[in-house]
Amino acid sequence: MFKQSIITIATLGLLSVTASAFDTASCVGCHGANFEKAAMGKSKIVKDMTAEEITTALNGYKDGSYGGPMKMLMKAPATGMSEADIKAFADEHGKK
Ligand code: HEC
Repeated sequence: MFKQSIITIATLGLLSVTASAFDTASCVGCHGANFEKAAMGKSKIVKDMTAEEITTALNGYKDGSYGGPMKMLMKAPATGMSEADIKAFADEHGKK
C-alpha cells in the first residue's frame, strides 16, 4: 500500500523534489499534498505551523511528549524520520 501510493503520487506528478532523502509520500494521504489539510479532521494545519512548532511536534510524537487524541497515528511516521529529516521538513513546510 505504501509502495502503491508512492507510485500513484509520482505518476500524478505531485511528488516534489526536496533536498532531503526523506519524502512525504506517506504523509500526504492524511495531511494533503501541501500539508494544507487537518489530518483526520483533527491535526493542526501543518503548513500554518512554524518550523519550531513542527520540530517540537514531530520529536514529541517520537518520545510521547506531544500530541492530541490521535497522537498514536503519528508515532510511526515520526519515528521514521531522522533528526535531519525533521529539520529539513520543518524548514521546508513551516510557515515562513
Ligand atoms: C494516518 C494519517 C496520518 C499520516 C500517514 C501522517 N499523519 Fe501527521 N498527523 C495525523 C493526525 C491525526 C495528527 C494529529 C494527531 C494528534 O492528535 O496529536 C497529525 C499530526 C501531525 C503533525 C503535528 C500537527 C499538530 O496537530 O500538532 C505534524 C507536523 C505531522 N502530523 C506531520 C506528518 C508527517 C511529516 C507525516 C509523514 C511522515 C505524517 N504526519 C503522516 C495523521 C497522519
